[in-house]
Amino acid sequence: MNTMELERLFNIGIALSANADSDSLMREIVDVAMELTHCDGGTLYILEEGELHFYIMVTISLGIDRGGHGQKIELPPVQVSNPQNVCARAAAEKRLINVADVYKDDRFDFSGPQRYDSMTGYRTKSMLVIPMLDDKGDVIGVLQLLNAKDDRGCSVAFPEECEQVIQSLASQAAIRLTNLNYSREITKVLESIVQVLSTAIDARTPYNANHTRNMAKYGERFLNWLREEQKEWFLNPEEQREFLMAVWLHDIGKLVTPLTVMDKPSRLAGGEKDIRQRFEIIGLLAEIEYLKGELAKEEYDRLHDELEEAWNTVLLANQAGYLQEDVLKRIEELAARTYIDREGRTGTWLNAEETEALSVKKGTLTASERQIMENHVVMTKKLLEQVHFSKEYSHVTRWASNHHEYLDGTGYPNKLTAAELSAPERLLTILDIYDALTAKDRPYKKPMPEEKAFEILRGMAGEGKLDAGLLELFFQSEAWSDEAFSARARSAE
Ligand SMILES: [Fe+2]
Ligand SMILES: [Fe+2]
Repeated sequence: MNTMELERLFNIGIALSANADSDSLMREIVDVAMELTHCDGGTLYILEEGELHFYIMVTISLGIDRGGHGQKIELPPVQVSNPQNVCARAAAEKRLINVADVYKDDRFDFSGPQRYDSMTGYRTKSMLVIPMLDDKGDVIGVLQLLNAKDDRGCSVAFPEECEQVIQSLASQAAIRLTNLNYSREITKVLESIVQVLSTAIDARTPYNANHTRNMAKYGERFLNWLREEQKEWFLNPEEQREFLMAVWLHDIGKLVTPLTVMDKPSRLAGGEKDIRQRFEIIGLLAEIEYLKGELAKEEYDRLHDELEEAWNTVLLANQAGYLQEDVLKRIEELAARTYIDREGRTGTWLNAEETEALSVKKGTLTASERQIMENHVVMTKKLLEQVHFSKEYSHVTRWASNHHEYLDGTGYPNKLTAAELSAPERLLTILDIYDALTAKDRPYKKPMPEEKAFEILRGMAGEGKLDAGLLELFFQSEAWSDEAFSARARSAE
């Protein structure tokens, strides 16, 4: 082994620990092992449930380079229980096997490589088969090297002195792969817990049961699109995971929002029954007066008509949406309109609480209820600040807690401005509003057609609240449309 090779070997440990993706790590192992042994081919198998599965296959002289980058090799796996197979034996006995010439070795069944040779004209000669053992001494895979070359390029046996080096390389790689699997497993556990938790929060109310899931769906599609289309702004896969984690957790503060506020379907939320009863009593009192001859027929008829008109106004004002000025004015009049009950006490047609509820200009929540509702982002922040997030998720709390902030400083709770809001935060806000507008299950709004939702979002961007560029990209991506997305998936098949 020359100095350069030695140096290469020393650097491998560093390179292996720096590689954060198991596909490229496996590829690196094969490349380095082939380079160190000057051989023509390398195959890496991973052990899964008693079978060795092909992951990487390289034969330089035949131009074969398969597997890696998520690409599967469709070859039947090798059963570890098969003692005739050299790779299976290396795995089962946890020992390196060096074969000088497969045509002269009768310890194993080499009919497979020989058949392959007769089909391709290749000549398989030497083989070095190394089990990959992790830190617990368990086999996680097998590395098989093929046809070591001498200086003239002729196939020769693998020299004994390279065995130890390759064995050590294989073990380092195995430990690194195992660690990567551990961290992937931990991430999966974390993500699934977060998803279950968010789904449970969404399920508290039937009115937005799919809110977070929809946002994660739109967000994931959109970010994939940005990356594929190589747009100016995009997130790498790790940042995308972080962003989606923030999406899943953005409304976690709703865990403590009372359902009476969260699900309030109308301004009075059932309180209209009391008004109905009061109006009936006022009508009956008038009828008694009329029957007693204390109230003129015209007066009685006029009151009767007014009560009916007042009730219709209450019903109108009780509906979600925007409150018209003339309706509001009439509500104020009814709040001041008095009657005298049988005990001689004076009451108003609408009490203070009802008047406040019916005077809400937009939506169904009164000022104090809106405060409670808006407090969910403060709670999101408080709760997430208590979570120990690893470095990869260090922005989650911030991104999740700022989803109601607007670029012009009119959002809540901190009235942040454009300079303080990053692209992921701006995107989360857009996704949140888009789903709120188009959701098929919100109590205070009817589902809105997508075009109308974009019209509103564009209006908000025009006012300086939302990021107009990001919004147009989202529109262009069609990530928001299930139909467009499935049509695209079909045409890609
Ligand atoms: Fe929210
Ligand atoms: Fe939300």
